[in-house]
Amino acid sequence: MKDIKIESTLTVYDNFDELPQDIANLMQHAIEARKNAYAPYSKFYVGAAILLDNNEVVTGNNQENASYPSGLCAERTAIYYAGAKYPKSKLLKMALTAGSNEHQTITPIPPCGACRQAIAEYEVKQDQPIEIYFMGETGKVVKSNSLANLLPLGFDRSFL
Ligand code: THU
Repeated sequence: MKDIKIESTLTVYDNFDELPQDIANLMQHAIEARKNAYAPYSKFYVGAAILLDNNEVVTGNNQENASYPSGLCAERTAIYYAGAKYPKSKLLKMALTAGSNEHQTITPIPPCGACRQAIAEYEVKQDQPIEIYFMGETGKVVKSNSLANLLPLGFDRSFL
């Protein structure tokens, strides 16, 4: 018997203004996308923006439904759209922002487990990591160099 230790390193920016210009631009797309989220039930608005290797930026936001599980998170709305529209392009960077109508969101909001699994699939598909940046409405921004940092011991096609 032995213990194994799993470690991840993330980078934390103190605020939006500390971001490199290209990431600030991408995050601005995510902020714009967040404004169009359809979230009448949770009132929690999430925006996602993905930069592709063809220089296109694809955005998405959460789309809720009266039948709650039929809704979809912003990350998957965006990544499935990218996969549908640009199947041959690689996904380079992803910016995420979330905010609520009911309180100010200053904590960086990471992608949920289901979205991590969905993003992980594309890292495997393209054999290249995707940089992920996530924030609340304001405040610190967290960067992960790869989705794999956020999903240790993930399930992928190698097990099938
Ligand atoms: N949501 C996202 O869009 N992304 C996440 O990673 C977490 C949650 C959405 C789903 C739902 O519309 C609302 O936030 C509250 O859970």
